[in-house]
Amino acid sequence: MAKLSEARTFLKSFTNTDARKFVQSIMKRNYAEAIIEHHPDPQSIHRKAVIDKCQYLVDSTFQRIKQIQGSAEELFPLFARLSRNKQPRDEIWFDEFLQAYQLYKHQRKLRRRYEKIKGYLQGTSYCDIGCGGGDFVAFLKHQHESFQRVAGIDVMDWRTEAVKDEIGFQTLDLSQSDTFSEIKYDTMSCLAVLHHVGNTDETQGVFLQNIRHSLSDGGRLIIEEDVMLPKDELKNNPYYQHQLESLKGQQYPLSDFLKFDYATQKDCIIQIDFLANALAVGVPEMAFPCGFRSIKEWTTLLEKNGYEVEEVKIAGFVPGNFNQSSHVYFVLNKK
Ligand SMILES: C[S@@+](CC[C@H](N)C(=O)[O-])C[C@H]1O[C@@H](n2cnc3c(N)ncnc32)[C@H](O)[C@@H]1O
Repeated sequence: MAKLSEARTFLKSFTNTDARKFVQSIMKRNYAEAIIEHHPDPQSIHRKAVIDKCQYLVDSTFQRIKQIQGSAEELFPLFARLSRNKQPRDEIWFDEFLQAYQLYKHQRKLRRRYEKIKGYLQGTSYCDIGCGGGDFVAFLKHQHESFQRVAGIDVMDWRTEAVKDEIGFQTLDLSQSDTFSEIKYDTMSCLAVLHHVGNTDETQGVFLQNIRHSLSDGGRLIIEEDVMLPKDELKNNPYYQHQLESLKGQQYPLSDFLKFDYATQKDCIIQIDFLANALAVGVPEMAFPCGFRSIKEWTTLLEKNGYEVEEVKIAGFVPGNFNQSSHVYFVLNKK
C-alpha cells in the first residue's frame, strides 16, 4: 500500500507540466555533462553521440511514464524495468553512462561531497546515518586524519564487500522511538536521508531525536537535503540572497527553479528524487515518503528537536553531479 501511495505522489507531480519540462530538460543536460566530465577515458568518447544517447535515455523514460496513463499500480514495475541495476539492462542504458557513473559513484562523488563538508567536521569520531553502500565513510577514514573512529548506521545493510572490513557499522532503524547508538560520535552526517524517513513533524522528529542521542555532548550534525526555495522566504534574507546570487552564474537551472512557486518546486524535487533513485542509483524499492521542506520549515523542525542551526550552506544544482537538485547543507550543534 505504501508503494501505491508513493506512486500516486509521483504521478501527481508528473501532471505539473512546468515541473515535468524543467526536470526532463535538466536531466538530459546534466547526464551528458556529467558523463563528459567523469568518464575514465574522456578522449575516447564522442560528445555528440553522448548527448544524443542522454536525450534518448531521458525522453524514452518520460514517454514510458506517460504511457502508463497515471496508473499507480504500473509505476514501480516500470521503474524496476528501467533501473540501472536490472539484468539484463533496458536498452536506454549505454556504455559511456555506465563507465562514467561507476567512477563518479565510487570516487569522484565522494571527494566532491567531502570538499563540501570538510570544514564542518569536528572531533575524533564520525558516523554517517543512512550510509547506504558505506563508500563515503570509508573515504573519510582515509582522507580525514583526525577521525580515529568511523562508522555507518543504516536500516538496511547495503554495504559493498570492499568496505565491510573498513568501517564500523550498526543496523538500526532510527525512525523507531528510543532507537539510537550506544556509541556516541563527535560528528554525524545524514546525507539525502531525512526525506526518505517520513513526511511529518512527528516521524522526522523522532529520527532527529535519535540522532541527537547518538551524538557526544557538543556534537555536530551535518544534514544534506533537497529543499524548496520559495521567493517569500528568501526576499528578506540577505544571507540566502547573497549565496544564491553567487551561484546563479555557475548553475544554469537555478534561476528557472527560483521562479517557480513552492508547489512547483516541490514537484520538481519529487520527480528528480524518484528518477535519480529509481534509474541511475537503481533502487526503486527505497521508501519515498517525500518529506521535503523549505529551509525555514527545516530550521523550525531542527530547533524543536534540540539542535542549534550554526550555518545553512546552499549548494544548489552542483555542476558535474549526475543528479542535480536544490541541495542545501545544514550545519547543526547539539543543544
Ligand atoms: C537516498 S539513500 C542515501 C544514501 C547515502 N547517504 C547517500 O547519500 O548516498 C537513503 C538511505 O537512508 C537509509 N534509511 C532510510 N530510512 C532509514 C531509517 N529509518 N534508519 C536508518 N537509515 C534509513 C536507506 O536505507 C538509504 O541507505
